[in-house]
Amino acid sequence: SFHAVIPAGGVGTRLWPLSRAGAPKFLHDLTGSGSTLLRATYDRLEPLAHDRMMVVTGVAHKEAVCGQLPEIPDSELVLESEPKDSAAAIGLAAAILFERDPSIIMGSFAADHVISPDGVFQAAVREAILTAAPGEGSDGKIVTIGIAPTHASTGFGYIRTGDPLAVAGAPHAYAVAEFVEKPDQQTADRYLAEGGYSWNAGMFVAPVSLMLKHLAANEPELHAGLTEIAQAWDTPQRAEVTGRIWPNLPKIAIDYAVAEPAAAAGDVAVIPGEFRWDDVGDFAAIGRLNSAKDTDNVTVLGEGARRVFTEDASGVVVTDTKRVIALIGIDDVVIVDTPDALLVTTTAHAQRVKAAVESLKASG
Ligand code: GDD
Ligand code: MG
Repeated sequence: SFHAVIPAGGVGTRLWPLSRAGAPKFLHDLTGSGSTLLRATYDRLEPLAHDRMMVVTGVAHKEAVCGQLPEIPDSELVLESEPKDSAAAIGLAAAILFERDPSIIMGSFAADHVISPDGVFQAAVREAILTAAPGEGSDGKIVTIGIAPTHASTGFGYIRTGDPLAVAGAPHAYAVAEFVEKPDQQTADRYLAEGGYSWNAGMFVAPVSLMLKHLAANEPELHAGLTEIAQAWDTPQRAEVTGRIWPNLPKIAIDYAVAEPAAAAGDVAVIPGEFRWDDVGDFAAIGRLNSAKDTDNVTVLGEGARRVFTEDASGVVVTDTKRVIALIGIDDVVIVDTPDALLVTTTAHAQRVKAAVESLKASG
């Protein structure tokens, strides 16, 4: 059967001071839809997975996650004592599911993306599940979803499409010739010029057994630790075993630990994602995502929407304070007003927030 897994971690530094360690990006509504990114991700997967939905997150986010997903049973909420990056988060889910039933096909989906329409996404995932399934003499595939690149971003994984795969019910399945996580600028420029590449949407549909096989081959220490934890998961030893092993696990992204080497071994496939996809990398993206429903070219998120007054102005305003904000005769501005920090920049410079936060941190 199919089991959806949502790894929800990370800090989302490029969306500071809205997104921060205590309240990362996935806990926020960035589209004005009334749903947070996590809630929307869950709802989008529910028709495919029903009650087989697991969330892996930090123990610090337990309360917020349960508040947003009140229906999630304890058994499907996996809590990490500290972040160990996506290979540990996704690998632990795979190992726990494997102990329950080694024939499960899992799908891991990032918690912090904006996707629409849901139906087109679900059709692509259905093809991915059929493509992932093991067959006679085959362990199945690790199936990614590919997004047509719009520019030479260095923030994504790149998938080089290979030959079509003949999978019944999945007419858009292709082999992956190569997977390259976050190439340097020169390489990304070349990929875009050459064509034949897509961005990795951050989704992996695979038999748990195949996921673990590649983890064992490439990160044996991580695999051994996760297996030991998973075997103790439903026993009274869970806390002791996890407390001993988790803090010492290697920190690595799933893209390096599994996707790159599995693609080199010929075990990765791709389904093109024909849906709208945005990883909401910065505040300019929030403006783009909301621009369709703007009346006055000003995107206001959060509580203070009624209190923002504009005249001949355009831009993005995010606020969760009780303050009144007036923008007059100013364009492409980004204002993020939170109780203890204020950011003012422009949409053109929104990418620089991450570096600024890092130097803020460094200077204490
Ligand atoms: N639970 C948990 N713990 N989840 C984590 C952790 C962790 O320590 N670290 C990352 N995650 C989750 C994130 O919340 C997200 O849902 C997913 O794992 C991917 O991690 P990111 O840190 O957001 O990765 P990225 O954006 O740099 O790159 C990935 O996504 C791109 C698409 O947005 C890669 O898969 C790229 O190849 C891909 O193009
Ligand atoms: Mg991301």
